[in-house]
Order: sequence, then structure tokens, then C-alpha cells
Amino acid sequence: MIRVDEKNNVFFLDTENTSYGIAIVEDRYIEHLYYGAKLKDTDVRYLLREDEPPFTPRVNKRETGSFLDCAPMEYPEAGMGDYREGALCVRSEQGYRASELVYEGYETFRGKPQLEGLPATWGNESDCSTLKIICRDRLLNMKVTLLYSVFEGADAVIRSVLIENEGKEPFYIEKVLSACLDMDDRNFEMISLVGSWARERHIQRMPLTYGRHNVASFKGNSSHQEHPFMALVTPETTQNVGEVYAMNFVYSGNFIAQAEKSQFDSVRMTMGLHPEGFTWKLEPGERFTAPEVVMVYSDEGLGKMTRTYHDLYRNHLIRSPYLHKKRPILINNWEATYFDFDEKKLLEIAKEASELGIEMLVMDDGWFGKRSSDDSSLGDWYVNEEKIKGGLHNLVENVGELGMKFGIWVEPEMISPESELFREHPDWAIQIPGRDITQSRAQYMLDLSRDEVADFVYEMIADILKSADISYVKWDMNRQMATLGSAALPADRQGELAHRYILGVYRMQERLINDFPDLLLENCASGGGRFDPGMLYYSPQIWCSDDTDAVERLAIQEGTAMIYPVSSIGAHVSICPNHTVGRNTPFETRGDVALLGTFGYELDITRLSRDEKEQVKEQVKKYHKYNDLIREGDYYRLASAADNMYYDSWMIVEKDKSRALLFYVQVRARANAKSRFLRLAGLDAEKRYVINGKEYDGSLLMQAGVRISSESGDFRSKVIEIVKA
Ligand code: DGJ
Repeated sequence: MIRVDEKNNVFFLDTENTSYGIAIVEDRYIEHLYYGAKLKDTDVRYLLREDEPPFTPRVNKRETGSFLDCAPMEYPEAGMGDYREGALCVRSEQGYRASELVYEGYETFRGKPQLEGLPATWGNESDCSTLKIICRDRLLNMKVTLLYSVFEGADAVIRSVLIENEGKEPFYIEKVLSACLDMDDRNFEMISLVGSWARERHIQRMPLTYGRHNVASFKGNSSHQEHPFMALVTPETTQNVGEVYAMNFVYSGNFIAQAEKSQFDSVRMTMGLHPEGFTWKLEPGERFTAPEVVMVYSDEGLGKMTRTYHDLYRNHLIRSPYLHKKRPILINNWEATYFDFDEKKLLEIAKEASELGIEMLVMDDGWFGKRSSDDSSLGDWYVNEEKIKGGLHNLVENVGELGMKFGIWVEPEMISPESELFREHPDWAIQIPGRDITQSRAQYMLDLSRDEVADFVYEMIADILKSADISYVKWDMNRQMATLGSAALPADRQGELAHRYILGVYRMQERLINDFPDLLLENCASGGGRFDPGMLYYSPQIWCSDDTDAVERLAIQEGTAMIYPVSSIGAHVSICPNHTVGRNTPFETRGDVALLGTFGYELDITRLSRDEKEQVKEQVKKYHKYNDLIREGDYYRLASAADNMYYDSWMIVEKDKSRALLFYVQVRARANAKSRFLRLAGLDAEKRYVINGKEYDGSLLMQAGVRISSESGDFRSKVIEIVKA
């Protein structure tokens, strides 16, 4: 709900449990008033310290310098005297870098506008409301609209920004962030998700000291290394207690998320497009829309934040018809064969898999052009009939006769220097004339800022999809951006390439899901290099990491599930010793860990032992029994092996609290250890529950815990069902 108090010149965005307040000061400045637990009062302008120099120019001899550098601003601009991180930096045609946003008016309405060309949370008039705050830089005649939306039942505030050139000259946007949150410091600690290839989204927490601390990517994708997420938390914060202010960016390219503690002990938290290398020329009459940031406040710890993101993304971000459906259990041939396969090998895998209850075969990289290693053929999207004898249609039919669906891997955004496509269109690769193109995994990136390039590649892929009964696509992306240049952009628009590229990707994915509405799309980027809300808008699942080791996956999936619904996490059982880290883990544990996700297999199933094959059958049964609960339930994190070194544990609880699953993974055995009590979460304290045939009070299970005996051997796991008596 949106409350406007015109007398006091304040706006409040209310959710079920939170309020976000904005005030207009001196009829021109748009200041941040409050964000936190729900407030009833709107008469709270004292929070602005307006009578206290230097908090308004009026009581400070019209001194704007000291005021701008300390007042809490909703959308701070560069160049006028606020030396903290600015959200907007604009260069005029004459080369001056400054802007001064003056409040003009507001608008409120039910519903939420679509963001042009961008993924975004969606909802209709009964789901959400929007506030537009309109301001203007008079010199440039630049209209800036700050957009805020709130959804019923979700403790989130969604922000984005629209910039319009209503003047007579072009200007250049050099920086445009989407959200800024100014607050007094509360000894905040900063949580971010960091990592590397095959080690994505590990949770990092550190005290917020003076200065600027950020996570960012200017690699062209949201990246394995840092993640478009940041939370500031009060020091006592755990899963269940403490205050959390979080931001997550609905975008898949360059970003920056930053917290800055200033000389006055205030904290500015910002998020948006990374300004590195970015400039956007806005001609008169043109507009620019910045991607949106989803802000979540929780005063019940990180667990509440997590569940808010999960529900919001399941209800108002992911659009796929598969979102609320059990996905077919797939087997992917990548770790089974890498590039070394033919139709016979695929059929052998499919045959064995179908007998064990697996429902879909996914043919990974290597089926097209002359591709027998990663050295060639990206861009040549036609079937290699030397490998797939009889062609794709035939293979898919044969797989279908086994009662299985068929899925295919593609990497539409790339071009190999060794490809027919590159020989025909060398200018289609992103490059700087006269320089060597930076090569990575022996490939270049296609210039998807050019519609004709994106359309050409899209048509090739669409033809493949039309040529056979293909139920699933894994859309991969295996390198990061460098030597940025587009043959189609003029000199003063080269700074638009990285963003235009992402808009091109979005346009292609939009076409794909519209043209093939029954297709199950899984995004991927060398594992989890582009696991973000932007991609989730198009695909209900994303391959989480190229590290399929069950123990490595604990930390990766914990960090990922801190924001993203479990139903979106691509997770497979693979072979041991694990191909990435060489570890051996029990087959059962590999299955249990993969249940915290979409669940599938990625191994040569024909080489499993008889015992392992029996275990596959059991795992398939477990998946079918529990997937509805895992996909739709509430996720609670109980323990983290990354913190305690010994065990990891989480729960999924049915929304009505009638049923739950407890997952426990013992990572390290301990000599002379007694059993441990795991305190459960999310149950109804007033109700009784049955575990293994014995009844317990919900409150007992949550206060004292379930007894877990310590087992000999590392990497043992248990999945325990808890049902209301
Ligand atoms: C990276 C992906 O993450 C892998 O699963 C696999 O598809 C390879 N690319 C294929 O090149």
C-alpha cells in the first residue's frame, strides 16, 4: 500500500511488515526518511533533523555544500557537492558533469509498469502498487522518474529509474544506479556472495568499516566471482534474529553493489549498472530505463529475508509454465562423455537411464558443426551427422521410443574463430579494430547489440528446435567480455555496448520462450556465472555450478538458496572421484544434496555398479515423493558446514506446516562424539509431529531438537520426513 501525506510532504510504501518513507524537503530535495519495521505514523519528519545544521540549507545560511554531503538522499547526483557515491552522473553536450534533480510531482497507481526490454518483477492491479516520483534537471531538461513498487504480502520494495531527455541537445549518462539507501550506521556488517568458477556464491560476512566496500562485475555477465546481491545486517543477526537490509539486482551484466560508511557515521547502500566503461547517449526525445533492484527488509534475521525473496521470485518474477511443475528428471551427457560421443553412446545412456526411471536425455556440447573439442564451430548451428548418424530427428525419435524426452545444449551468444560463421561475418564478433580480439575458451562473443546478428543466430537455433521434438534447452555462455567494440556503433555510443549486449540476450530469450511456449529453458554460464534474477525471468532453472561434488555443492547451494528459490537451482548427481575436486562421496549423499534443486544425473550411467543402479531407482522415488514439497515449501537453514566444519543442515516446510523434510549432511566424522540435537525451524509450536513413527511436540522439536547420531565416515547424509500427527 502507498500512503501519501500531502500536508507533511511524505510518502510511505507499506508492506505487511515494513515501511519505506520518502520526504520532500524545501519543495525540491527528495530525501530518504525511513526504512524498517512497519510504522503507522506519517508525522515523522523529525527523522530528517531539518532544524539541525547542516541538514537543510534553510537553517544553514543556504549552504548547500555541507548539506548535500550529509543529508539522506533518495537519488543522489554527482557534481554538486555530495561526495558520497552518487547514483547519477550525466555529462552535457558541452562536457560538464553535473545534474541537480528538483522535485516536480508524484503519481500513484495500482499495478506495476513493465520495464522496456528488461526482465522485471510483474504483477497486476490486485497484486501491487506503484509510486512514481518525478523530478527534473532544469538545465538539461532531463526528466527523472523514480519508480517504487510494493507487492501485497511481500516485504519488498522494488526500485528502478527512468531518464528522459526533454531538452534540445543530447546528453550522456555516465552512471545510472537503480537504488540508493541512506541510513544511520548501526554497526552494520556486510554480507555478499563471492567465489570463482566452480566455487560460486560462497557467503562472506565482514564488519562495515569507514570507506567504500563493494562487490561488482564489469566482465559482461553477473559473474562467478561477485554477485549482484548485498545485505547489511546488525551484528547480532543470525538466521532467526536481527535486522537485514538486502538488495538484489534484476540484471545479468555489469553491476556494482556498494556500502559506504561516511565521516558522519551514515551508511549509503547503492546498487545498479557498473559505470566502468559505460556511457549512454540520450538524444532529445529518447529515454533510458535502468534495471530494477529488489530491496528486502527483515527484522527476523536472514531466514526471513530468504523466504521473502523465494516467494517474491516464485510468485512475481519467474514466468515459466514449469515453475510449479515437477521437472522431468534428466540425464546430461557432459560429464559422461564430454565431446566424445555419437548417437550410439547417447542411446546407450538413454536406454539404461530410462530403465531406472530417468525421464529426459540432454545432449550437451559437441553435436554441431565440426565440434570435437572447444576449439571450433560455435555459430555453426547445424547437426554434425558424422557424430549423430541419421540426424537429430532420428535420434530424438529413438530416445522418445524409450519413453524419454529430449533436451539440447546451445551457446547462441558465441562465435568460434574457427567457424563458418566467423569466416563469413568476421565483423560480428565483439572487437576493437586494429587490436587482437581477446580469446577465451577459444571463442569470441557475438555482437548482440546488433539486431541482425541476434536474429540470424536465433533463427538458426529455432530451426534446430523445429526440426525435432525438443522439450528442453540448456542455454550456455562460456566466457566473459573484453576488447569491447561494435562495428555498428558510432564512436560516442561505444560505451553502450555491454548493456546493449545484455538487452540483445534478453530479446533473444524473450523470442525463444514466446515461440516455443512448451520449452523448458535452463540457463547456464560456465556453471553459475549468470545465476541472477534477470535470467530467472526467462528460465525457471539455472545450472548452479560446474562443481558437481556434493560437498563443494553444500556451500554453493547454501549461498544460492539464500536468495533464489530451491526450484531454480540446477543440481545433478555425478560420478566419483569427482571430476573437479577428485573427492569420493557416498552415492546416497550425492542424491540427497541434488534434491536441494532441480535434480538430475550427469554421469555415464552404463558404467554404474548394480548397487548404484538400485540406488538411482531409490533416488528417483525420493524425488517423486518429495519434489512438490521441496519446490513449493519454505526453506530454513539450520546449520552450515562452511561455519562449523562438521555438518550442514536445512529444512523445507510445507506452507501450511503440515509436513517438512529435514536434510542433514555429516561432512566430517569426529572421534568419540556423542549425538547432537538439531533444533528444527518453521513448524507449528502448538502441533504434534511424527518422525519415524514416534510423536513429538512441535515446540519440543524447535526448542530442544531432533537427535542425530554421529556416524563413522565422512559425507554421510539423512533425509528425515516430519509429518503432522
Ligand atoms: C559449461 C557448462 O557449465 C557445462 O555444464 C557444459 O555444458 C560445458 N559448458 C559445455 O561446454
